[in-house]
Amino acid sequence: MENREQWGSRVGFILAAIGSAIGLGNIWRFPYVAYENGGGAFLIPYFFALLTAGIPILILEFGVGRSKRGSAPLSFSRLSKRFEWLGWFQTFLSFGIITFYSVVIAWAINYTIFSFNLKWGDDTESYFFGEYLNATAPSGLNLGGIQWQIFIPLIIVWALLFFTISRGIKKGIEKLSLIFMPILLVLMVIIVLRAITLPGALDGLNHLFTPDFAHILPSFLGGDNPDWDQVWIAAYGQIFFSLSIAFAIMITYSSYLPKEKDVNNSAFITAFSNSGFSFLAAIGVFAALGFMANQSGSDVADVVSGGLGLAFVAFPTIISEFPAFNAFFGVLFFMTLVIAGFTSAISIVEVVVSSITDKLKVSRTKATLWICIIGFLISMIFITGTGLYFFDTLDHFINSFGIAISGFLELILLGWFIKVATIREENNLVSDFKIGYWWDIMIKIVTPIMLGYMIILNIISESTGLYGGLPLPVILIFGWGALLIMLIVAVIMSNLQWKDNQEERIPKTKSVTK
Ligand code: ALA
Repeated sequence: MENREQWGSRVGFILAAIGSAIGLGNIWRFPYVAYENGGGAFLIPYFFALLTAGIPILILEFGVGRSKRGSAPLSFSRLSKRFEWLGWFQTFLSFGIITFYSVVIAWAINYTIFSFNLKWGDDTESYFFGEYLNATAPSGLNLGGIQWQIFIPLIIVWALLFFTISRGIKKGIEKLSLIFMPILLVLMVIIVLRAITLPGALDGLNHLFTPDFAHILPSFLGGDNPDWDQVWIAAYGQIFFSLSIAFAIMITYSSYLPKEKDVNNSAFITAFSNSGFSFLAAIGVFAALGFMANQSGSDVADVVSGGLGLAFVAFPTIISEFPAFNAFFGVLFFMTLVIAGFTSAISIVEVVVSSITDKLKVSRTKATLWICIIGFLISMIFITGTGLYFFDTLDHFINSFGIAISGFLELILLGWFIKVATIREENNLVSDFKIGYWWDIMIKIVTPIMLGYMIILNIISESTGLYGGLPLPVILIFGWGALLIMLIVAVIMSNLQWKDNQEERIPKTKSVTK
């Protein structure tokens, strides 16, 4: 039987995993989520979620991929044929994510170029939503037309995804990670150093880090926030998306590990590097927001934003107000977004490529080509005038329900229906250090309870009205409908036969040095 592709080195694997984890989520989501949820005090739920869910699930997924040596559907199927559909569901979640993730990278490419002449002008908000996106609230079948200036970078993103992934694990993904991850760090450090030396920076950092413990605690512990539990849920949500867990990425990446490679230490390194980068980004972002407030004479609380508003409205304003080298810092900031986004996008597409090549035994090039073509065509929906609303809906449903439910089921199936302790024991045999029984408790009890609670709260909040006040057809198509289709196709795929009965045996690995 043929060998599975392998990473060329341990550092290559770890950098690729960190590259997947560090993405748009770290730069535009973490700082805002932290600020909104108690500032410095948010670090408590954040580290709680990291230690109870993030790292244990990373260890679980690395362990499953390493020992079963297959894409998510194949690895799950090797654990038990009954679990294969979950591998497919996770694969389709990734496919759903990449259809809009690629669009954001395309925007960032456009904005890198706009930085040269600060094309966004004085009113960055009307430029972004109006002139650039032509954002039009959805009504009927009018999609508001394709925005052709986004079309070109979007093609470039998909072409680069194709070229990188079709070259394979070692020559494509690993090489790219070895080059781009150090560059990403350097760019971020330059941005942070500049940001913290701007006037008003300290004010921004004070806003971010001043701990509001009453915000994260229930009233009987002195809390003053009736929705204090939402803060803990937000921490879990941030950890899942940011660490790329529960949507098949880490199982896929670790399936290319040689069998005797460490996983426990790699999981800790990946998780802490990801959090470290998030903190760095948060410092840079809030220092810059402090500067922005200082320039306009307003309070930091009035200028903070997250997501699209931060990256494409607040940052262009900040860059325009820079005392010197505006274009240089604009290019630096948007390139950071492009690189962080692209190294994550690679991992998201690789999930789908790996599942399809395993199941259908087609060549990597052919699978990558088709996935990129179909992904590109679907992502075109998001560059229409109404695309922003569709994108927001899909993103919301995938995060609040898709990933949460997928994580919950993964823990229940693997934690309770197979002997999960075996995975720990196997991991311990090959790893730099051993993990103890605490891990089983997290996988089997603590995290499923938190995720179960999170899903229930999300369902309750969904039932109070249509998401974002959007029309029902939009919610049905890009929300529940999209998730339902993913589930149905997942079940169909899991009922197809594996070529050569691959699910019954595990390919050998080449011997390696540590
Ligand atoms: N983990 C990636 C991010 O944070 C998907 O953007």
